[in-house]
This record gives sequence, structure tokens and C-alpha cells, in this order.
Amino acid sequence: MRILILNGPNLNLLGKREPEIYGRKAFEDYFGELQAQFHEHKLEYFQSNHEGALLDKLHEVGFSYDGIVFNAGAYTHTSVALGDAIAGISTPVIEVHISNVHRREAFRHHSYLSAHCAGIIVGLGLQGYALGVQAIIGHQS
Ligand code: DQA
Repeated sequence: MRILILNGPNLNLLGKREPEIYGRKAFEDYFGELQAQFHEHKLEYFQSNHEGALLDKLHEVGFSYDGIVFNAGAYTHTSVALGDAIAGISTPVIEVHISNVHRREAFRHHSYLSAHCAGIIVGLGLQGYALGVQAIIGHQS
């Protein structure tokens, strides 16, 4: 299966950014582990700090890939456009958040993406990405 891991703003700083919330591992290191864990599948990774680049990526892969595991970072709580993009593509999207957004500030409790996603994984750390990939593999079989 062909699966995209898509990360939004500030997630390029994982490992350095607020490690008490997001942990001490860089995403590139974790992605290597993820590829090894799901070596029978083709996993790709794309990160951008720009909303338009995330939209372009969703449009690019959203009619041909088997699934997208998407952590939109703070755009989760602000972007009608990303929600519309997920609604408009045919590839299923799993929304992931490393931290438990529901234990945090009220503005993090609402997601413009969730209503359009196949499922949501919140608060389980980086493991959430692996669970998302697992869900896509299970979803198709
Ligand atoms: C996050 C939660 C968001 O509220 C925050 O803006 C992020 C990361 C998470 O993975 O826990 O950048 O999506």
C-alpha cells in the first residue's frame, strides 16, 4: 500500500520543540522506525509549515494513495481549507495529534479536520502515527 505521512507547521522541530509535550525524538528518526515496521508498504513523508503546500500535497496524492496520516499541527484548529480538502479527496485520512489536545487549552479542542477524517488518534505520542498506518492497512483489507 502507498501511504503518506503528512506533518504541518512546527512539526519539523520535533525533538527540540517543547520536549515535555512532544518528546525528544526527531520525526526523521521516528519515520525510519515506521518504515522498518511497515516495510511491506510504501510509506512517504512530507512536512510543510505552509498551509498551501499542505493543500497541494493533499490534492496531489488524494485520489491515488491508499491513505494519509495527517498531523496538521495548529492548522487543525484554524483551517477550513484543510477540512474542505480532506472532504474533497477520495483517499481516507487519519488525523493524528501527538499530545492530548483535549487536556490542553480550549482553542485546541476543536478540529476543522475531524468531521472529514476516517478516524482520529490523539494523545498517544509518536506511536499515534503507527496506529494510523495500521488503521489504513486494516481499513482496506
Ligand atoms: C499537535 C497539537 C496542536 O494543537 C499543536 O498546534 C501542534 C501539535 C499535536 O501533535 O499534539 O502543533 O497537533
